[in-house]
Amino acid sequence: MCGIMGIINKKGMAIKKVIEGLERLEYRGYDSCGIAYLTNNKIETVKTKGRVKDLKELIDTDIKSDIAIGHTRWATHGVASTINAHPHTVGDITLVHNGIIENYLELKEILISKGYQFKSTTDTEIACALIDFYYQENKDIKKAIISFMDKVKGSYAIVLLCKDIKDKIFVIKKDSPLVIGVNTDTVFVASDIPTILSECNDYYLLNDLEWASISSSEITFYSNKGEEQVKERQTFKDGNFTYSKDKYDHFMLKEIMEQQDTLSNLINYYIEDNKYLDLIDISKYKRIDIVACGSAYHAGLVGKYLFEEEANIETQVYLASEYRYKKNFLDENSLVIFISQSGETADTLACLKKIKETKAKSLGIINVENSSISIAVDEVIYTKSGSEIAVATTKAYTSQIAVLALLTLSSLAKHNKSYDIDKIINELKNIKDDVKKVLDDKDKYKSIAKKIIASKKIFFLGRSIDYAIMREGDLKLKEITYLSSECYAAGELKHGPISLIDKDTLVIAGNTNKILYEKTESNLSEVVARGANIILVTNKGKANSNTIVIPERSSFISPILEVIPLQLISYYTGVFLERDIDKPRNLAKSVTVE
Ligand code: AGP
Repeated sequence: MCGIMGIINKKGMAIKKVIEGLERLEYRGYDSCGIAYLTNNKIETVKTKGRVKDLKELIDTDIKSDIAIGHTRWATHGVASTINAHPHTVGDITLVHNGIIENYLELKEILISKGYQFKSTTDTEIACALIDFYYQENKDIKKAIISFMDKVKGSYAIVLLCKDIKDKIFVIKKDSPLVIGVNTDTVFVASDIPTILSECNDYYLLNDLEWASISSSEITFYSNKGEEQVKERQTFKDGNFTYSKDKYDHFMLKEIMEQQDTLSNLINYYIEDNKYLDLIDISKYKRIDIVACGSAYHAGLVGKYLFEEEANIETQVYLASEYRYKKNFLDENSLVIFISQSGETADTLACLKKIKETKAKSLGIINVENSSISIAVDEVIYTKSGSEIAVATTKAYTSQIAVLALLTLSSLAKHNKSYDIDKIINELKNIKDDVKKVLDDKDKYKSIAKKIIASKKIFFLGRSIDYAIMREGDLKLKEITYLSSECYAAGELKHGPISLIDKDTLVIAGNTNKILYEKTESNLSEVVARGANIILVTNKGKANSNTIVIPERSSFISPILEVIPLQLISYYTGVFLERDIDKPRNLAKSVTVE
């Protein structure tokens, strides 16, 4: 999704620094970009469809400038084009925006009646014109920003330059992420903390409906009513973010390989000194809802399995985009668990805001520290997987499962004295070796990738916890390869989709669950009888070119070992198809619009 980077300093380096920031924001996914900078007392704007490397070719980065703002745009209103790219300028105002102005059509009509004309089809240009309209009333930027916040509906993180004010930038925030970083002589604004982590140690976070006026020496915070706000300067704690691919061709491969460490570090942290026993007691609650999007939702499905089948705690899992408009049945005995890598996903955040109106307790399972969701939940458990740059999540997803497994174990240790906790702890302690084993089978994954490319139809099948994992495998394949695939609960196939199965179909199936082993085998026989070829991920029997055998472990570990081969198979399929692995088309790392 859109990324914002801005800077104000007195060293003349603003253009270079903003471009570097935009490069760090590339992982969020975008289709056009631009920059506006102050030079010789004038604001210049350069923008383009395409990548930051294309923008660099249009700019002389040696130009001295003390103030610059930049943007990577992920198209919502209007196609990806240079005209629609940010920054936008209307009258005296130049700005970049992340979010959606919901009442932009109504505002556009009003502004046209006042004489404004528009070049782009974006909602952002309307926002820009609206601020200019209020600014022209009495040339008071403070009043203009307050009137804008009063009139506009939707979400916005805006960074703004005013033609008449040459030593300041202004930022405005509601429901879209924005952070202000500071070091001795420079102030940065950005969409996320990792973007500015290499530049500064201290930062401020704006709440929704707040704005700030920033000079190189002073930051003043205001509410939407114009009252000054006192803000605490905070210091980054997590130095775990990195933007290097090391020896790998892609961030995705690096992040897949890192799982041996991310998982063992996370798990050992909680096992050491029995810290897992301090985790929230899920069995205290009469109702548990898990709310998330995409892969985080798939992790939630695994969580449901663990909570219900292992700890006997009934659990519901919801897609955040559905949950936010659904009636809830929450009270003081309810726990709502929000799972999110970025901690910024708009739908998940909106659900959290909604349940804050109830008496339910909220728990976040989040990767990015100090992200919006991690700050707003009652309690947070960080997944500690470090920076995940590839759009397709891998290591953050398996860490989400690990946290859900630890929560289950914590409940069992407290309430089920007959459960063999030590056996699970021993398994968890060995996760590094197990993960390493499944990571090592690369040649087989490459040859399966070639079979996928040669097939006309791809199906993912599994039952119960295997179904949850196959859904993630299916999503990974779609994201990285742009191939069409379908995922079904194996028992559901004969209720319709089996009509699609023929000799051109490749079925990727998971079968690791003792209780359902034979049932799934029968379903697979049905597809073999119709000519399909099978790639099987199982924990029984002998491996061969079409069968991946993962170590036989409990359901605390098994789903993690089952998904890793699927991550690598998708990765190699994408590589063979020459896809843009780390930044697949149309996708964004952090989905900050509804
Ligand atoms: C996963 O590979 C996807 N990129 C996507 O489904 C993602 O999991 C989803 O958008 C949720 O993101 P979050 O974890 O940051 O909330």
